[in-house]
Amino acid sequence: MKFDFLSESDQAYFIHKASTLVEALPYIREHSGDTIVIKYGGHAMGDKKLSESFSRDIGLLKEVGVSPIIIHGGGPQIGERLKSKNISTQFVEGLRVTDKETIKVVEEVLSKDINSEIVESISASGGKAIGVSGNDNLVTATKLNVEIKDSDSNIEKIVDIGFVGQPKKLNKDMLTSFIKNGQIPVISPLGKDENNFTYNINADTVAGFIAGELQASKLLLLTDVPGILDKDEKLISSITLEEAKNIANKEYISGGMKPKINTCIDAMKKGVKKSTILDGRIPHSVILELFTEHGIGTQITSN
Ligand SMILES: Nc1ncnc2c1ncn2[C@@H]1O[C@H](COP(=O)(O)OP(=O)(O)OP(=O)(O)O)[C@@H](O)[C@H]1O
Ligand SMILES: [Mg+2]
Repeated sequence: MKFDFLSESDQAYFIHKASTLVEALPYIREHSGDTIVIKYGGHAMGDKKLSESFSRDIGLLKEVGVSPIIIHGGGPQIGERLKSKNISTQFVEGLRVTDKETIKVVEEVLSKDINSEIVESISASGGKAIGVSGNDNLVTATKLNVEIKDSDSNIEKIVDIGFVGQPKKLNKDMLTSFIKNGQIPVISPLGKDENNFTYNINADTVAGFIAGELQASKLLLLTDVPGILDKDEKLISSITLEEAKNIANKEYISGGMKPKINTCIDAMKKGVKKSTILDGRIPHSVILELFTEHGIGTQITSN
């Protein structure tokens, strides 16, 4: 038999590979025809090898009949660029305070540098990716006013964080026509208001908004932690929508995790069936989540 020339451990390795493919089949059938919105985090995309494996995973999804839509972040890359230009930056509730000078840098880093890198990487692995700046006729935004509670007086006040927006309207036709053409949209998290001002929008929020508007089957938020960690820093592997609402305002949910949980909640209220917050630092995290028995990260289910 051909297999005889392999050592026992090599045989075991290939048998395991074959069984992995067989295990994936029911999941491939389950997801075929689905639209899946994937937020690719600024932290998760720092490593070249990881970004190549991410691109191959996206190409594979398309091959098995899934329509992936990618929204990318860029927090660390924007931070670095601002630093190199000596522009100081501040965060309120996990959101970057964005003045006139900052929004220019944000737009340049997101829509020019990062967006084209991802498009090129997916194209290099055979996927037909198309780059879209969110503010280029795709997402209509309005200015976001953040409410924060003063810890001493407990009084809520509204804080102006500049050109930070929230999505209001989506040009669905644009996205559905890309999907019909077999293209993979790669979207930068920006929006434009009616007066033509560009706004920086948290990428998780854009991903959740698009997932909700398109009634996507699934929302995947890739990040740089294993998922939602509880107060003892243990991974919460699965919670219901109701449980997610209950923990959203707990003290141990802070910084960038806040918009993530809230965005999952909002998307699921609009009909998205499942959301997962998962570790984008794990190679093939998307494939592990969608096509294996156990999945990874924190799954938020509708009941
Ligand atoms: N309870 C929690 N569980 C897990 N992470 C948490 C929690 N509370 C706060 N965090 C923070 O949230 C961070 C993830 O959000 P962050 O906005 O930094 O990354 P990202 O969204 O993946 O990237 P980007 O914003 O650049 O797109 C984690 O690195 C962690 O520090
Ligand atoms: Mg973030």
